[in-house]
Amino acid sequence: MANFSIDPDITKARTLSTDFYNKPRHLEEAKEKIFSRCWQLVGDTDQVKDPGWVTPVHILENYLSEPVVLSCDKERNIHCFSNVCTHRGNLIVENPCKVNDIRCKYHGRRFSLDGRFLSMPEFKEVKDFPSEADNLHHLPLHKWGKWLFTSLSGGIEASAFFKEMTERVSWMPFDQFVYRPDLSREYKVEANWALYCENFLEGFHIPFVHAGLNSVIDYGNYSVELHRYSSLQLGVSKDGENCFDLPPGSPDFGKKVAGYYFWVFPNMMFNFYPWGLSINVVKPTAVTKCVVSFMAYVWDENKLRQGAGAALHQVELEDEDIVQNVQKGVRSRFYNYGRYSATREQGTHHFHRLIAEFMG
Ligand code: FES
Ligand SMILES: [Fe+2]
Repeated sequence: MANFSIDPDITKARTLSTDFYNKPRHLEEAKEKIFSRCWQLVGDTDQVKDPGWVTPVHILENYLSEPVVLSCDKERNIHCFSNVCTHRGNLIVENPCKVNDIRCKYHGRRFSLDGRFLSMPEFKEVKDFPSEADNLHHLPLHKWGKWLFTSLSGGIEASAFFKEMTERVSWMPFDQFVYRPDLSREYKVEANWALYCENFLEGFHIPFVHAGLNSVIDYGNYSVELHRYSSLQLGVSKDGENCFDLPPGSPDFGKKVAGYYFWVFPNMMFNFYPWGLSINVVKPTAVTKCVVSFMAYVWDENKLRQGAGAALHQVELEDEDIVQNVQKGVRSRFYNYGRYSATREQGTHHFHRLIAEFMG
């Protein structure tokens, strides 16, 4: 049995046991212990814009693989519920569509737009029917800006994950952020999901790995803030480089912020640049494989090709390359653990402590 404890004192701590990145059973355990207890992105409000819209979503396909539906009811309330028919388990909604009620194709069971059982043919003789169990399982929904999140087994309030980020950038006009499929894409990475996240969580490697990014970011002023289930890395731009035009109400007013790199445990990154937002979701697919989904939401088109958020594809390939090498390294019989830089790796240490806490 691996021991995933991490010393809270970064100056004494050893890094996470390499078993976490190599043993399939830990990835399997992390499904319930980590992922189902935390919040996952389901989509955005544009996917269920008008009453009657229903959109199917697979939460972390090939891992949690939980089929859910987003819907907008007649009163414009948005819901998230299971996409599995309570009769014999058929998937009900196959494609985004506009409907009056939801009807299962298999034997015609009908549900309302908030997932409640409405009717079913040939069930008159069935005792104690319908019951609560015949409604589609309802899931909690957290809305932040235009983004929608759910938690499969609940337990921890959404505010514990999102509050600091929400407050920090509350001045941004999220309704003006437009999803851009042409700027969004997925990357297949041959590495454990946590290796990808822990690389994101330190700016230590920027001067070594990202020459282009390093030329616009002021490495000396790069800072990290740790919260209970999230953290923020604040990238400050070098003189003359593109930065946010912050309003006086922002807590960062007066600073030359090139990018806010928010991370929400366990696998979501919200990178705000003067042009908009790049959301990255790291999706485990096997113990040494993951898919990283980059979703771009543009706010100011004119700033797209400037500053820290200009060459995201290039930066991604540089990260991918190094993280894949690390995956090969952590397999070695001669590498069991490392140590942290107390000044540059607080974010990674914080992440490892959370993994240890949830897996423990
Ligand atoms: S499985 Fe849906 S009606 Fe039978
Ligand atoms: Fe990087």
